[in-house]
Amino acid sequence: MAFFGKNKKSNILTDADLPVHIGIIMDGNGRWAKKRGLPRSAGHSAGAKTFRTITRYCSDIGIKYLTVYAFSTENWKRPENEVNSLMDLFKSYLEEALADFKDDSIVVKFIGDKSRFSDDLRKLMIENEESSKNRDGMVLNIAMNYGSRDEIVRAVKNISIDVKSGKVSVDDINEKLVSSYLYTSGQPDPDLIIRPSGEHRISNFLLWQSAYTEFVIMNKLWPDFNTSDLNEAINIFSGRNRRYGGI
Ligand code: FPP
Repeated sequence: MAFFGKNKKSNILTDADLPVHIGIIMDGNGRWAKKRGLPRSAGHSAGAKTFRTITRYCSDIGIKYLTVYAFSTENWKRPENEVNSLMDLFKSYLEEALADFKDDSIVVKFIGDKSRFSDDLRKLMIENEESSKNRDGMVLNIAMNYGSRDEIVRAVKNISIDVKSGKVSVDDINEKLVSSYLYTSGQPDPDLIIRPSGEHRISNFLLWQSAYTEFVIMNKLWPDFNTSDLNEAINIFSGRNRRYGGI
C-alpha cells in the first residue's frame, strides 16, 4: 500500500493508482556537475547515489518493474575519459549491488548488448542476473549499451532466423510475437516514463514498449531528483486519462 498525497478521488493513492512499470531516463548528471565546477564523472557518481535511493524506494512502495537508462548505444561517442569513468562506476556499483539489493529481493536484469563491455564488467552483469533470478521482488532492468532501434533490429534478425529454420511461420508474426523477441520479453510495457532535467526527448529508449506510456518531464537534474519528485510524477500519472487509442 502506498501513501503519496492527493489524487483526484481522495488524498491517498492506492495500489490501483500505482504504475506497474516505471521507466526513468536518468538525465542531467553532466549539467549538475558543471553547475558546481566539478568534472562530469562527479555528476555520474552523484547520479549513481540517486539511482540507488530511487530503486530502493520504488521497491518499497510496490512498483513491480523499474527500467533505468544507464548507458545508451550512442553514449560510446562521449570522450574516452568519460566513458572510462562510467565503466569504472558501473563496475564498482555492480560489485556492491551483488549484496546490496538482496534484502529487498530485487531481481536484476540487464537490457542491451553485453558483448561490447569488458570481460570483468560482463561477468559482473551475469553474476548479478544469476544470483537474483529466483527472487520474488521488483524487477530492475538496467539498460546498458541499450538502444531501442538496435533492440528492434536484433528482434527482426532473430525472427528471420526462426522463420528460416521453420520454428516460426510468417503467419505467426504479430505484436505479441515481436514483443517476445525484445529484451523486455514477458514484462508489461511501461505505464510511466519519467525524464528529469527538462529535456523532451525519448532518446532511443523503449520505443516499441512505450506506444501507450504516459510521459512525465521534470525539471530537476537527476542527481537532485528525490523520492518526493517520484511521488509527484506518480501523482501526475494517476491523474492522466489513459485511452489507448479509444475514447
Ligand atoms: C545522462 O546524463 C546520464 C548518463 C549517460 C549516465 C547515467 C548513469 C548513472 C546515473 C550512473 C548510475 C547507474 C548505474 C547502473 C550504477 P548526462 O551525462 O547526459 O547529463 P547532461 O545531459 O547534463 O550532460
